[in-house]
Amino acid sequence: MTLRTIVCAALAAAVLATVPLAGSAHAQQASKRVEDLLARMTLEEKIGQLNLVSGHHAVTGPYTRSDVRSAILKGEAGGLFNVYGAAYTRGLQEIATTQTRLGIPLLLGFDVLHGYRTIFPVPLAQAATFDMAAIEQAERIAAAEAAAAGVNWIFAPMLDHSRDPRWGRVVESFGESAWLGARIGEARVRGLQGRSLKSPDSVAACAKHFAGNGATEGGREYSGGDVSVRAMRDQQLPPFKAAVDAGARCVMAAFNAVDGIPGVANDTLLRDILRREWGFKGVVVSDFGAIEELIVHGVAENPADAGRQALRAGTDIDMESRTFVTQLATLVREGKVLASELDDAVRRILVLKEELGLFDDPYARSSPEREAATVGRPDHFQAARAMAEKSMVLLKNDRNTLPFSTKLQRVAVIGPLADGKADTLGPWAANGNPEDATTLLAGVRRVVGDTAEVLYASGGTIDRTSPADIAAAVKLAARAEAVILALGERSTMSGESASRASLDLPGDQLALARAVIALGKPTAVVLFNGRPLTIEDLDREAPAILEAWFPGSEGGLAAARILFGLAEPQGRLPMTFPRSVGQIPIYHDERPTGRPAGPQPKPYTTGYQDVGPTPLYPFGHGLTYTTFFMGTPRLDRPAIAGGETATVSVDVMNTGARTGTAHVQLYIRHRLARVSRPVKELRGFARITLPPGGVGVVKMPIGEAELAFWQPEGRMAPPSSGKIDVMAGPDSATLKSIILEYRPAGPARQASNTGG
Ligand code: NOJ
Repeated sequence: MTLRTIVCAALAAAVLATVPLAGSAHAQQASKRVEDLLARMTLEEKIGQLNLVSGHHAVTGPYTRSDVRSAILKGEAGGLFNVYGAAYTRGLQEIATTQTRLGIPLLLGFDVLHGYRTIFPVPLAQAATFDMAAIEQAERIAAAEAAAAGVNWIFAPMLDHSRDPRWGRVVESFGESAWLGARIGEARVRGLQGRSLKSPDSVAACAKHFAGNGATEGGREYSGGDVSVRAMRDQQLPPFKAAVDAGARCVMAAFNAVDGIPGVANDTLLRDILRREWGFKGVVVSDFGAIEELIVHGVAENPADAGRQALRAGTDIDMESRTFVTQLATLVREGKVLASELDDAVRRILVLKEELGLFDDPYARSSPEREAATVGRPDHFQAARAMAEKSMVLLKNDRNTLPFSTKLQRVAVIGPLADGKADTLGPWAANGNPEDATTLLAGVRRVVGDTAEVLYASGGTIDRTSPADIAAAVKLAARAEAVILALGERSTMSGESASRASLDLPGDQLALARAVIALGKPTAVVLFNGRPLTIEDLDREAPAILEAWFPGSEGGLAAARILFGLAEPQGRLPMTFPRSVGQIPIYHDERPTGRPAGPQPKPYTTGYQDVGPTPLYPFGHGLTYTTFFMGTPRLDRPAIAGGETATVSVDVMNTGARTGTAHVQLYIRHRLARVSRPVKELRGFARITLPPGGVGVVKMPIGEAELAFWQPEGRMAPPSSGKIDVMAGPDSATLKSIILEYRPAGPARQASNTGG
């Protein structure tokens, strides 16, 4: 037994002790068509199905790069990625289906993270909408557009849980609440896959990166933190479980190692949990080159060893490392990989192709007519604008600086992000065309029309602002009645391989902002960024701050409509904004300590000497243009038994002067359990739109699913019994509470009150 096997076995034992096995590690018998095909395939043809080749954006015309073409002809590509365009993909499918011996169609994958051509706000911004219907609709549109261009497989949703905004990939994530991540995961899978995978506007979703990929060390890309079984089960896995339960047909194994075992070779994750425990029947694809990287990780001796480990652990498809095509034939001949293991992987891939309808009509998605009619449709752009409006978070609004009056005669728009088209789209803009983007400057011009003069100065670049840039900006701002400062990050500062050690505004943007704010004009900062930033100084000085994220094709218009009161800010932070980078990780669902911080600094309590214990803006924070009173939550019953659901009601009153949408969030805390539970955890949300003086009630359910957590004996369940603080309010730091008792049915369990 190797050390790796021992470690794996130990982890499996700890993790899986009492978990019932829901599914088999082996694929079931597939359809007659798939089984017949499998029976006719040579060893090489089978291995070819496991190889995924990058087409490198070869979309400038209906031509095929010669190496891609020859890979298909040689039967060495079961799928391609980074390929799109109806004519181009049709040509690729034609080669595969008419010029190879068995005519097996291709999987065609692409990273469509927040839209294909119509670019929606980045995923972190989408999470800020807390609007699952809007997220599902955005994915439906993304899928319809990508599918019309021949794509049948999308490498999304990204479901990595991270509490470290230094990690650039938080832009792709759902933020810090794994519970919210699970809801978003379900919504995204439903949106991408639609009602039927066969439909030519549906694609297979691929939940990534399985698992623990967000648990980086120091926010460094491609690093792996030590993830405890509890962190894995309570934080990292629930969004994936939700995506699998929603029917996701693909999972991408992560680059990182968990407990020393990289994702593609992690049989505990891939076989024991994903396939056996969760019953996942779809395909597992490696991340880019990850199989070969097993050697760099120091867990595989050579390519053959890497290929063997990956296949045996349950990785079906090799993305770009070419390890399977070069190694598997020998491994099978030598008996180091079982022919049945190879067959299982091939079968799963063929089943997916069949489910996608590719055997019936490989060209169904590659229709130039549908592509022309679907991609970038005006109603898609409208949906992108609506979502951008829902995603923007009003962080600060002193003395009702916002909304600006539409009667202003002269407005200054200043800043390096005011007119950056690519930066408006965001870092994973798929086939988005920056020329389509409405920047903030263009949006402001559209909103004020001819009624106001719009003055513009870039104020230098994102990285550098000269004294002359500042002087010019100040001079311009002095002529305006109101000023909009567009600040933040370049879009490429977020995303893959875009970690930052400092989360301050890059370059000299703070100096630019200070000089302009010092004029004392009504000034609103609009932030463009893919992660929480450390903006305590800006927050102290700027009268108003609107977090716009990277808002997509219509983002500048959405921001302008909010600034001028044509739309209300509705977003809430899905991730805590720290005061200082040294506070990271800082998040709402922290565990209690025996020495909590009080309102005043006190020795021998938790925290820092040089910064307070609170964040700058808590999870869930977001202001509106009106004010709301939210009552103490009420329960329709004081206790629930097993299988029951309580309804939490919260009275809401609009106490301000404008119609607005209240966003009520629901948190819980288990007062007593066998393991210490977080001081609060998001478990629900609801919104209600009310006119001035209007009153209403929101209702949110709470049942066993909301109370469950990973139990010490190794299963997801509520505690055996106990009291739960049920808290509600406008954000995670402003909550009122009531106690709910949980008493599962059965006399023996009812008698004990020792907590779970
Ligand atoms: C690497 C990234 O980690 C992954 O998210 C992406 O899907 C692949 N590259 C393919 O582009």
